Amino acid sequence: MRHYENPERTSENRCKARSWYIPGGVSKQIMLSGTWNFAFFSRDIDVPEAITNWDTIPVPSCWQLQGYENPNYSNINYPYPCDPPYVPDDNPCGVYQRTFELEQWGKTYFVFEGVTSCAYLYINGRYVGFTQGSHILSEFDITDYVNQGINTVQVKVLKWCCGSYLEDQDFFRYNGIFRDVYLLQRPENHITDVDMIPNDRSISISLDGAAEVRVYDGENLLTWQPMQDHFEFAPENPVLWNAEKPHLYTVELERAGEIIRLKTGLRKIEVSDDHAILVNGVPVKFHGVNHHDTDPNRGWCQSEQELRRDLELMKSLNINCVRTSHYPPAPVFMQLCDELGLYVVCETDIETHGFLRRLPNVPYYYDVESGAWPCTKAEWKHEFVDRMRRMVENFKNHPSIFMWSTGNESGHGCNHMEMIRWTKNRDSSRLVHAEDASRKGQFHNADVYSMMYSSLKDVEGYALCDDINIPVFLCEYSHAMGNGPGDVYDYNELFDRYPKLTGGCIWEWADHVVNVDGVQRYGGDFAGEQTHDGNFCCDGLVFSDRSLKAGSLEAKAAYQPIRTTLDGNVLTVYNRLDFTNLEEYEFSYSIEADGEVVATEELWLHAAPHTGVQVDIPYEKRACRFGVYLNTELRKDGVVWAHTQHPLPFEQARQESAPAAVLTEDGQNICAQGENFRYTFSKHYGIFTSLVVNGCEQLAGKPVLTAHRAPTDNDRNIQFRWMQLNEWQGENLDKSFVKVYDCRLEQNAIVVDGALAGISRAPLMKFTQRVEIAADGRITLDLQGNIRQDAIWLPRLGYEFTLPGENNEFAYFGNGPFESYRDLCHAGRIGLHDSSAHKEYVHYVRPQEHGNHTAARWLRIGDLEFSADDMEINVSRFSGAALTAAEHTDELISDGKTHLRIDYKVSGIGSNSCGPSLEEKYRLAEKQVSFRFVILPRQKD
Ligand code: GAL
Ligand code: MG
Repeated sequence: MRHYENPERTSENRCKARSWYIPGGVSKQIMLSGTWNFAFFSRDIDVPEAITNWDTIPVPSCWQLQGYENPNYSNINYPYPCDPPYVPDDNPCGVYQRTFELEQWGKTYFVFEGVTSCAYLYINGRYVGFTQGSHILSEFDITDYVNQGINTVQVKVLKWCCGSYLEDQDFFRYNGIFRDVYLLQRPENHITDVDMIPNDRSISISLDGAAEVRVYDGENLLTWQPMQDHFEFAPENPVLWNAEKPHLYTVELERAGEIIRLKTGLRKIEVSDDHAILVNGVPVKFHGVNHHDTDPNRGWCQSEQELRRDLELMKSLNINCVRTSHYPPAPVFMQLCDELGLYVVCETDIETHGFLRRLPNVPYYYDVESGAWPCTKAEWKHEFVDRMRRMVENFKNHPSIFMWSTGNESGHGCNHMEMIRWTKNRDSSRLVHAEDASRKGQFHNADVYSMMYSSLKDVEGYALCDDINIPVFLCEYSHAMGNGPGDVYDYNELFDRYPKLTGGCIWEWADHVVNVDGVQRYGGDFAGEQTHDGNFCCDGLVFSDRSLKAGSLEAKAAYQPIRTTLDGNVLTVYNRLDFTNLEEYEFSYSIEADGEVVATEELWLHAAPHTGVQVDIPYEKRACRFGVYLNTELRKDGVVWAHTQHPLPFEQARQESAPAAVLTEDGQNICAQGENFRYTFSKHYGIFTSLVVNGCEQLAGKPVLTAHRAPTDNDRNIQFRWMQLNEWQGENLDKSFVKVYDCRLEQNAIVVDGALAGISRAPLMKFTQRVEIAADGRITLDLQGNIRQDAIWLPRLGYEFTLPGENNEFAYFGNGPFESYRDLCHAGRIGLHDSSAHKEYVHYVRPQEHGNHTAARWLRIGDLEFSADDMEINVSRFSGAALTAAEHTDELISDGKTHLRIDYKVSGIGSNSCGPSLEEKYRLAEKQVSFRFVILPRQKD
């Protein structure tokens, strides 16, 4: 066994973990981040005594993104045999070296905020110590190793160590010093640790001995006095901390000229009798997201500015909770959560998911009873508990943390029990989360019943099950991969219904990709990846550059501060906030008829948290073409935090009907013409082959009836039933044929009997399509279809039109301005919108279906107008086939035409990439289809 393969010797000379702070006053922080010398060896045994050839490398960084080895993305599989504690004999090693200048006095410490997988530290050629636990702080006392003046530090980082078995998180497997490194120079006899675990009454400080303490509220000095060991200060009229109003007090502790400045908040976490989680006595719903440190250029490295940007963006999406999946964050992240106001589930650096895959032919099962999992093994006990202990000691003073987590996907064994026992003993003020305890049916070992990706039905089942008598928290739900998630709104409706359902965290914050020459790359794109999981790492609620997608805004809507209901002329506005009266916001509503504002009103609403207020909406039914909608908005500081929409009753404006056009038959074609149009209908194909309007051909190909969509990432399971991906499963909708059995003229209508079928398959749908053409050029197309009884539910059904590329700007009445689907439509608004095929494109990492608009009634593109009582529309530069074929954005080929879909229906999005299958109500599952739409030649304005 090599030194680094011993789970019972995971550190040497590392300091005892303490609460994290950067001491000031006479104490100094000397940053060592910057350029280091670097030498890379593909086998650690090749590292010579003296290295003469140095490259340079930025610190922090991941060496795979600096030209040493390639990135490798693995979800569950260990990228080496599962044979703990052993790692491959050829263990790559990166040696880091630099100098620093020091004026020698007091004590000197060396701090790593993150290094993976393990590090050997040398100062001036002398070995100082060793550490494992990549994402957890490690500190070394180097006082006896440093000299006055110039000193040399060397760090040997190994790619793997036994600790790698505990770090099998779903991410790119990077290595190196990936977070800041620095020295702390402090007086002898400095404070060793500050214990200031928050409560809701007083600031309660414990430390080793004497200090002077000052407490400030903002600039206001509240108290200044000497303390010995323990000090308790209860501010008069204390302002409590919560995520909506993250009030912080500042504490300064001074000893021997060193000043430790800490921010703290007063708050209390409890569980109510009805199993809600209370913050300061108020039941709170956690509108959360899982955060991994990820950057398209720098991998695991995120600067303070980038972390701040992430958290501010979360706040702007109404997110109030973050789980640090699946390891402790950089300390600054915790400070930012305190300051900006986010409830944190702080998770330690443990995941051993790969044990699931250690044997072939075994189903996906956490067989901890086999004794093979580290969580059950005595030799791993110390390291499990130590990873918990180090995290808790580092971050115990942060008011934002309401729950500690023992890690992720590691089974549930006696080592977890020991972690939980230790944590509860050390800090009884917070909850403990152990997701696998619930998975193993032993949820009472932890404080919350935690599940991931449960269906709505299952979640409701937890709410109704009396045996589950602790709060329910979904540590992961609504898998946000690609186009999606589509189910986040429904989950939140459910959370709001039951006190016991406390909310959860969407999986996950941002896509993990590697930016290579402007193209986002993922697993399998890099030479040497021996096992990988493709694009499963691209599952962010925001893109890797933190730009937003419709799914981001859907989450914002699901999490937004209000819900509204409309009953007749009475609008009830319900305040979902926990600590803020709605009077702190501006509320307004407008009434829009056919997209035109006909009334607006701004109001000051007074509604205490968790209460509703009623607003009278003066409206009398009016006549219009598309519809009347009541739109509400909640704003603060010029930002819209919430908006809702309700349809209002209206009278359908009457449309004059024109007489039928004269149809002439000419061989295979039926022709119709009028003042500004000339149409050709092919009896052979049962559809138009030419639509000339105002002298211009509007078609660039013949329209086709289809049912395929380029699979979204959330279609990754169901796509096998839809497409031709193997011999036996699919309806083969991606290779479909429309067959015309018969085409005839019946009175003034062209009637087509036909079938739509996938290659090799019996017809999916038999249909009759009736086309009527009026003398003013109005075409009414009526489709009546019977879908085969045993066919799978469909991705969509409708007509695909190919239009000239120049006709790419369009206007529509429907749900916009961004894409919408039946279950992903709460962020958009039904109304009049303008767009273009270019604007409709959404750069999902793996190209896929996008750009749909639900609840559409009208669309104008080129010289054609389409209308229907209800249709879904889609305008794109790319055909469904092109989107289906491309695996990366640079492979996406536009044929220069505009692709328009006029759809009867498009199925919802869901989050089945990892979550449950799409809710039935969002599926196109009916067997009888009736769809009627109108095409009108555009009237010259
Ligand atoms: C969960 C896991 C996450 C992530 C997700 C899929 O099972 O906890 O880390 O892998 O699945 O994206
Ligand atoms: Mg996993």
